[in-house]
Amino acid sequence: MCGIIGILGREEVSDRLVQGLRRLEYRGYDSAGLCTIVDGKLERRRAEGKLDNLARELDASPLPGTVGIAHTRWATHGAPTRDNAHPHATDEVALVHNGIIENFRPLREELIAEGRTFTSQTDTEVVAHLVSREVERGSSPKDAVAAVLKRLHGAFSLAILFRQHSDMLIGARLGSPLVVGYGEGETYLGSDALALAPLTQKISYLEEGDWVVITRDGTQIYDRDDNPVERPITISGASAAAIEKGNHRHYMQKEIYEQPIVVAQTLQTYIRSFEQQVALPDMTFSFADVPRITIVACGTSFYAGMVAKYWLEQFARVPCELDIASEFRYREPVLEAGGMALFISQSGETADTLAALRHARAQGQKIAVVVNVPTSSMAREADLLLPTHAGPEIGVASTKAFTCQLSVLAALAAKVARDKGKLTADEEQDIVLHLTEAPAAMNAALAHDADIEKMAPLIAKARDVLYLGRGTDYPMALEGALKLKEISYIHAEGYAAGEMKHGPIALIDDNVPVIVLAPSGPLFEKTVSNMQEVQARGGKVVLISDAEGLAQASEGTIATIEMPKVHPLIAPLVYAIPIQLLAYHVAVAKGTDVDQPRNLAKSVTVE
Ligand code: F6R
Repeated sequence: MCGIIGILGREEVSDRLVQGLRRLEYRGYDSAGLCTIVDGKLERRRAEGKLDNLARELDASPLPGTVGIAHTRWATHGAPTRDNAHPHATDEVALVHNGIIENFRPLREELIAEGRTFTSQTDTEVVAHLVSREVERGSSPKDAVAAVLKRLHGAFSLAILFRQHSDMLIGARLGSPLVVGYGEGETYLGSDALALAPLTQKISYLEEGDWVVITRDGTQIYDRDDNPVERPITISGASAAAIEKGNHRHYMQKEIYEQPIVVAQTLQTYIRSFEQQVALPDMTFSFADVPRITIVACGTSFYAGMVAKYWLEQFARVPCELDIASEFRYREPVLEAGGMALFISQSGETADTLAALRHARAQGQKIAVVVNVPTSSMAREADLLLPTHAGPEIGVASTKAFTCQLSVLAALAAKVARDKGKLTADEEQDIVLHLTEAPAAMNAALAHDADIEKMAPLIAKARDVLYLGRGTDYPMALEGALKLKEISYIHAEGYAAGEMKHGPIALIDDNVPVIVLAPSGPLFEKTVSNMQEVQARGGKVVLISDAEGLAQASEGTIATIEMPKVHPLIAPLVYAIPIQLLAYHVAVAKGTDVDQPRNLAKSVTVE
């Protein structure tokens, strides 16, 4: 987590650093800070809370300087106070950090024993002192950093400024992403290419263990053994326009509305429309030989994985395990030889998922990755890379990345089924046909936005909300509950509809709205029975179904949301829309910060 940016510029940098931070706020927004070199001194401005607070501080007390670093924080060690905000500094060195220095305690004790004083509770401040100590002992900045990097355990990216070198910036990466951007007579460091999008498209991605010395004479990258290395300069596709809100009030709203288009874009790359077949990128192994699939992800991506488990087992008859990434390694899973592990992630940087991926690779699994950021660590470590084409997702609550993941996973399930001989060509065509119907059906679902907005106040006043569904609507119920709790702060839970009677039904009273996802189809009657059990106990039901389902079962509900009638395969893609819109409108009605809900960050790069 945390976003970092650095500029070695020709002109003053502080405004551009703040603009860069705005594009990185998705990585955390507890506090922010900036440092430049002014008249031979390191000068900092830091502020608690959102970036606007730092911008106000800078308005009141501007920072000139043509070299600088800046940071937006998601607190790990120490509360989100001004003292704990980055940059952390000594007289000689200032730095910003993303990640965790795991051995910071012994290092801190060592430095305190030498008489050094600390002004924060962060793990980061030890790095500033360690580098400073080397510089004070007479090392060059380059030698100081090389020496200190060898003492740090954990995952980090760093950008470092030196008081005596106003023409230098040093960066380092291990476990957290860092890119170098090349401009006209200027060089940049950033957590991602998006942060640098308005400054340059020319980007080098640092590899694990790399560090970089940037001066006005040039840029030199070193590997983890301090050997000078070349890393290719790529032209980044990140566009500043892709991260504007347009006419929408919030990024989340914009991203919900983009879904028919980005799902169509994603499907286009996985479907050969003329042949009516699914098509995956070239592979180095065959699904026919894969005896078992282990799906691993976190949060919303995990729920996409749960839908995929249903599809893979149903179409391909291949046994699937599903794990939450943070549990995966530690439960010592038994992974079958020749198996495939499938990782799903919007960011491709989620620390838990990345660690699980490396664990699965070490256990000899083939690694497949469904990811939205094609330059991410997970993308680079995949044997089979299955990109989603959702474009940058800025709202902290994942929406369009989720439906794009579902699109890729449906195509994957069909391909595995074909390769395993469990699907005929006609059945494959059928799947392709239904998938191509999804964007239009999603558009039809969006047409009900105004109705959902009207009913949102009914939910906004609740303390607890339940979501119910069966089959693939069960993971959708879990996803609906997650969306609601993360942006509206209302306690919500998703349950398999048939599980209610085994305990959760005790929660029902006339204050608990129950959102039931029940498209008409094979599981409809059973879900409706469970819904009636809830109604019989005073539960206030909101039924989301198609016209046929609503005609049969809307009696006694407090509200209904109509969806187009769709094939069960694409129902998760379509029903994602009402649950996202409902969470969105409830959050707006409650006045929460929709795009940056409290305590969260978009990219979770700590375990
Ligand atoms: C919820 C949400 C999170 C992420 C989770 C995994 O709306 O966005 O639950 O899904 O943190 O992130 P990625 O997909 O980047 O690995």
